[in-house]
Amino acid sequence: MTVNEIREKFLKYFEGKGHQVMSSSSLIPKDDPSVLLTTAGMQQFKDWFSGKVKPEHNRAATIQKCVRTGDIDEVGDETHLTFFEMLGNFSFGDYFKEEAIKWGYEFIASELGVSDERIHFTIFKGDKEVPRDNDSERIIKKIGSFKIEECDRADNFWGPTGTEGPCGPTVEIYVDGVEVWNLVFNEYYQEANKVLLPLETKGVDTGAGLERIAATLNRVESVFETDEFKEIVAFINGKMQKKDKKAERIIADHARTATFLIADGVRPSNLDKGYILRRVIRRIIRYARLTGITEQNICSEIAKIVIDIYKSNYPELEREQKHIIDELNLEEAKFVKVIEAGLKKFEHYEDNKEISGKEAFDLFATYGFPYELTVEMAKEKGIKIDQAGFEAEFEKHQEVSRKGVDKKFAGGLENKEDPKIIEYHTLAHLLLAALREVLGEHVHQKGANITAERLRFDFSHPEKMTDIEKQKVEEWVNDKLGRDLEVNLDETDPKTAKEKGAEGEFSSKYGDKVKVYTIGGNLDSTKFISKEICGGPHVGNLSEIKGRFRIKKEESSSAGVRRIKGVLE
Ligand code: ALA
Repeated sequence: MTVNEIREKFLKYFEGKGHQVMSSSSLIPKDDPSVLLTTAGMQQFKDWFSGKVKPEHNRAATIQKCVRTGDIDEVGDETHLTFFEMLGNFSFGDYFKEEAIKWGYEFIASELGVSDERIHFTIFKGDKEVPRDNDSERIIKKIGSFKIEECDRADNFWGPTGTEGPCGPTVEIYVDGVEVWNLVFNEYYQEANKVLLPLETKGVDTGAGLERIAATLNRVESVFETDEFKEIVAFINGKMQKKDKKAERIIADHARTATFLIADGVRPSNLDKGYILRRVIRRIIRYARLTGITEQNICSEIAKIVIDIYKSNYPELEREQKHIIDELNLEEAKFVKVIEAGLKKFEHYEDNKEISGKEAFDLFATYGFPYELTVEMAKEKGIKIDQAGFEAEFEKHQEVSRKGVDKKFAGGLENKEDPKIIEYHTLAHLLLAALREVLGEHVHQKGANITAERLRFDFSHPEKMTDIEKQKVEEWVNDKLGRDLEVNLDETDPKTAKEKGAEGEFSSKYGDKVKVYTIGGNLDSTKFISKEICGGPHVGNLSEIKGRFRIKKEESSSAGVRRIKGVLE
């Protein structure tokens, strides 16, 4: 059965059961700042489920474009993808478990022709907050004698997307041991503080990965062998000098992701969605290089194949074709420049027997040259690499770097300016301003260390902070976070910066020109939230920072210097 036949059968079946067939929504969620990208079919219906907006239909069915990057490192195996299509049928205060389970089973058994012995179910086994799903068990038993497994919260409770929203226990349908369908019974609304409230109107939210279903039905080894993917993979394989199945799959997956993201208006950048896009494009190029694909504009060449395959179901691909190709070529050219500079540098090492840890690290940190490429090229030339030395250099750099470096950076190529790190940079400025506000003007920054997970901040202050002071600082910062306040960059000389009230150490370490970042104003403003001399980078607007600030620890660092460990949650 082809992927398209499955699409058609699915929509026809649920239309026959009174569902309104609706289009996929954009990969950029509308009016939901709590998520970056659409990760599930229910995203466009979040407000219908929660009761915020009156549903336009009682039942709906969609095939939704989704992007999930949580498992990006698993891509390359048989089932994981960053972009996929999700089949879903939905009920808004209409039918519930009985019909949802029956129809899910019937579609798989009768429409897709899967025999009963290949099918099994899982149900939620219950915990302190949410009772065991006895109803679903009873319903499944009525359908037939299937194996039913009981699973906990981690497996059989779904949602919410983002920080809050509808969620509930699930039934999962398995075929040949592969989970193909997730039926969510939305009975709760989870608040940002994790409290579960009962939903006034219950709903059904289901999701089945189209590519997985196709692979299972056709009994092929992986999603990459289904008919639509096969063409993309074959094209990539044809270009490879060194055949590598995993790389081939990663490139194929990421090319679909990039193509669909650009079609929906995402552009490469160092922030949020843009960063996700940049990351997948760079990974395509990295794996292309590793497998000996050096031709120019490889990303857009693959994208053209993707567009051709999917344009009949997703007309936006054809409409946005020019943007897709232009953006991919532009981004590729930028990254190739980085790679070429690294290659030049690498030539200096070619006569060596070994590349030292420091040299490998220099290639990576200074030139942004992916470490795996260094390894690969060294292998080709018969040069050894001091891997332990590289890791030691990396650790050292991480310690001394005030900016900090994301752990993932060690894997190569990931952008130095991880968006989370950038958020923490700006958070550090807010924290200093808050400390000066709450504790007094004697507070100055004495150091900082930032990773993608936390902030460590040293400041001058003679005594332990009280609980009230800590709370006040948190409140001050949280009051600013997420607000529409611009962070502006000006360049000036240190003297002017000081006169204009910028924080910073005014010692000789600054050159003639310094960067001044002002939150809620600019260099010339007399009223502002924070003004500091700093190399950056920072977010452009406080609204980009996701989460709430919490002080996890306040302790002594050295005489007269205190240290705060804080996180964005
Ligand atoms: N919303 C559910 C999921 O994504 C169906 O798995």
